[in-house]
Amino acid sequence: MALVLGIDVSTTATKAILVDDGGVVRGIGAAEYPFEVPQPLWTEQEPELWWAATVSAVRQVLSSARIAASDVVAVGLTGQMHGAVLLDRADQVLRPAILWNDQRTAAECDLIREVVGQERLIAITGNDALTGFTAPKLLWVREHEPDLWRLIAHVLLPKDYVRLRLTGEHAVDKADGSGTLLFDLGRRDWSPEVVAALDIDPDWLPRAWEGPDVTSAITTAAAEATGLRARTPVVAGGGDQAANAVGVGVVSPGSMALSLGTSGVVFAATSAPLFQPEGRVHAFCHAVPERWHMMAVMLSAAGSLRWFHDAVAPATSYPELVEPAADIPPGSGGLLFLPYLSGERTPHADPLARGAFIGLTLAHDRRHLTRAVLEGVAFGLRDGLELMLAAGVRRPSQIRVSGGGTASALWRQILADVLGTEVATVSTSEGAAYGAAILAGVGAGWYADVEAACTSLVTATLSAEPGTAADLYTEMHGIYRDLYPALVPAFHAAGVR
Ligand code: XUL
Repeated sequence: MALVLGIDVSTTATKAILVDDGGVVRGIGAAEYPFEVPQPLWTEQEPELWWAATVSAVRQVLSSARIAASDVVAVGLTGQMHGAVLLDRADQVLRPAILWNDQRTAAECDLIREVVGQERLIAITGNDALTGFTAPKLLWVREHEPDLWRLIAHVLLPKDYVRLRLTGEHAVDKADGSGTLLFDLGRRDWSPEVVAALDIDPDWLPRAWEGPDVTSAITTAAAEATGLRARTPVVAGGGDQAANAVGVGVVSPGSMALSLGTSGVVFAATSAPLFQPEGRVHAFCHAVPERWHMMAVMLSAAGSLRWFHDAVAPATSYPELVEPAADIPPGSGGLLFLPYLSGERTPHADPLARGAFIGLTLAHDRRHLTRAVLEGVAFGLRDGLELMLAAGVRRPSQIRVSGGGTASALWRQILADVLGTEVATVSTSEGAAYGAAILAGVGAGWYADVEAACTSLVTATLSAEPGTAADLYTEMHGIYRDLYPALVPAFHAAGVR
């Protein structure tokens, strides 16, 4: 039997899945780890945890699938994006990695806009400076930990630290590379201009590869640790969002994915390096050669429903909470919900944005509130979709949805109605790890390219078409869109307390 291994180094766990040449998942191993919050708004993780969890997850999956290590023909890596892993000349970790959801770098983001010029920064990298990205983290270390700064010899993304331990090589894929804010989106490589303007040593940055490229192979030491065969090829893979899109088959220009987990991501594959001129949505390289993507990120999507469930009906199952909301007509009796429970990224990059129910009356009961939450999340996702359409993304004929929230038929219908597009679930459910396995399958020569792999492995399953509520939702979305600007002074005044 021939198998590929996809490894996902996420914020909470490392997952390893084995996939056969027919696309069937043959085994899953996983090992969890915590992250630290050393100060409010900071998040850090010891890279050693990723390596220990990788060893454990790979050993688990190899033994659970009862296969010989020689059956694994290639390995693909994916993981949390935007982190900063700092290594010295001997590849020793200099400090805990600073993670994607760390918010300490507001001052460094201002500095980057100042020295590169905001317009120029967006034109080169496709993105505005966001606190979560890697470049501002580097500037923070320079300012606050100068002794440590002087020892830096290599900067890696989280999954690429695992690659280093597996293969001995410093490398990154172009999707994860473009999430650093040091990448030239059009050239699909590090930007000499931005790197020089920020006074970062270009020798610190690893070589950037296309997602399905074989970059190196498992070393003897890593083979002993993991049970894999020495010299097994390892492909570049992709940052988790790009790999997830591969895993649901969103690689051809014009295709679109929506993931409805804690956060909500609208992801559009494009054939050119499009970007939104104010940097209000992300623009990155895809994990697929000659493809790029735009991405809108809502911080509390299914997370809004989880909050509502836990706050209002913790003893009730999700179906018991959500299904009765189908009795309430679209529009929730004039009730609107703003989903900015953890601040927001798209369309309002504002850590002080807040959630709200607007328009409550005595006539509203729990079903109205539930429906308003589902609709509010869909309106926020529509904001992201509209920004991408205005930036030149084509309206897709179908949006491929994944993540816990899409288990609800009501929510899928609301999404189709609000987004004005058919939404469809897909035949795969292992997300980014599956995408990494597909990239490994392409690297192993199983498929001509990533598009061919996705066409043969990923099919649409349940779908919902926009229905009669679409017009009403267009009107309600207009009202929704005016709420954030109206409420922002109150959010900011209340948020600093
Ligand atoms: C993508 C992003 C998250 C992290 C963590 O921009 O911030 O998806 O990669 O999963």
